[in-house]
Amino acid sequence: MSEFKYQQLARLLSKRIEQHILQAGDKLPSIRQLSQEFSLAKVSVQHALHYLEAQGLVEARPRSGYYVKAAEKEQQVVPGMAYESPPELVDVPHIFQQIMARGAAFDVFPSAPLHDHPPHIEILHRDISRAQRQRAQENALYYGPPEGDRSLRAQIQKQYKARNCALDVDEICITSGCQNSLFIALTACCQPGDTIAIESPAFYGVLQIAQQLGLKVLEIPCSSSSGMSVEALCKVITRWPVKACVVTPSYSTPTGACMPYHEKQKLVALAQQHQFFLIEDDIYGELGFSLQPEPLKHFDQLGQVILCSSFSKSLSRDLRIGWFSGGKLHEKMTYLKLVNQLSGSQSVQSGVAKFLAEGHYRRLLNRYRQRLKQRRDNLITALNNNWCNHQGFSVPDGGLTLWVKLPDHIDTHKMYQPLLQQGITITPGVLFSSQTGFRNYLRLSFAHTLDKPRMKALRTVGQFIQNC
Ligand SMILES: Cc1ncc(COP(=O)(O)O)c(C=O)c1O
Repeated sequence: MSEFKYQQLARLLSKRIEQHILQAGDKLPSIRQLSQEFSLAKVSVQHALHYLEAQGLVEARPRSGYYVKAAEKEQQVVPGMAYESPPELVDVPHIFQQIMARGAAFDVFPSAPLHDHPPHIEILHRDISRAQRQRAQENALYYGPPEGDRSLRAQIQKQYKARNCALDVDEICITSGCQNSLFIALTACCQPGDTIAIESPAFYGVLQIAQQLGLKVLEIPCSSSSGMSVEALCKVITRWPVKACVVTPSYSTPTGACMPYHEKQKLVALAQQHQFFLIEDDIYGELGFSLQPEPLKHFDQLGQVILCSSFSKSLSRDLRIGWFSGGKLHEKMTYLKLVNQLSGSQSVQSGVAKFLAEGHYRRLLNRYRQRLKQRRDNLITALNNNWCNHQGFSVPDGGLTLWVKLPDHIDTHKMYQPLLQQGITITPGVLFSSQTGFRNYLRLSFAHTLDKPRMKALRTVGQFIQNC
């Protein structure tokens, strides 16, 4: 697989860090020096440095330059090395439904007014309304094709091209959201009783699908900065018959971890070698603050990767537009989409396609990423000032969430109901595993501005933890 020049430089510098040629605290040569030394454009050097920053290997110090970061002490995120025990069926607690029904607790204080009125929403709705008027008769009388609107698929194709991932328009199928895509992907790969590998901690939506489809799961340990351990997965697949592995390699939830380029490459090579499907949840892939990383699909030469995503986190949860690119299983999955849903709304799809084609989406994303980074920093400051006994948290370079560790004696599941009575919603750690781990963890989102009511709610949670 050919690498961009910035990737070659990033690889070379990360190797020097790995081999301790460059050590923690060392200042990297300036952008000008690096560009001369490697005969690269300054913009490529900057891109490489942003990449290393996103991987947590270097940090930018204002008006000084880039420095090698001290290796972060990894949080212990593995619940009792679960992957060493046999795969088990999933039994999700009732609290799942309750939390999902409350917008998955992305907002700590949902009854407070929203101050973020994104201007793009009006433009988006204008485009959709126009599309609804334009072909009102035809759309009312005919279903659209199961694979979805071609102009929308062409825009999605362009989005991936910008992330160095070449897809054909015919390799993309529109669905009613990422959860729908994941459901179709697992249905296509597995039969009841089959085993899948998932992240630990994992997105709870995947646990729900596994339960619904009667699948057994093996939880693979994940680092809170670099995601799934390919080494652990490698051990697992030689021991158990794993049909598919579901992974969110770019800014996963709850940790916000992003797998480094070479780990993604290794993961795809492993899937190709051992013939299991990689179901890639890329829903946060466009929400990197300094980098838009390549999806796993970029490395896929044999059709082993099933890419799933949607506009829910980057544009609007209300659209209910997602997609998949199913590799070897694309045809089967498109048929399952047809069986499942027949087709999606044609006018909504063509309105969204227009919104993208006019460049509004690009502009919106650029602004949104900056805002999210600021909100992440505000949340971190608030936690450090108000939660005196937290035990650390992930500091993601993209996505929407932090993964907070609390003292061992705290059970965040038990905090859920009493806080709910005060109008506060939290996402307890138990939601992210089929085991009993993560009881003393909490996912916090920075999707919303930390205004006064939300700040007050956060302080109340901090106080609650202190009194536990
Ligand atoms: C990792 C992940 N995948 C999928 C989904 C579901 O997305 P959609 O709204 O597109 O169905 C979510 C929503 O929270 C998510 O966090």
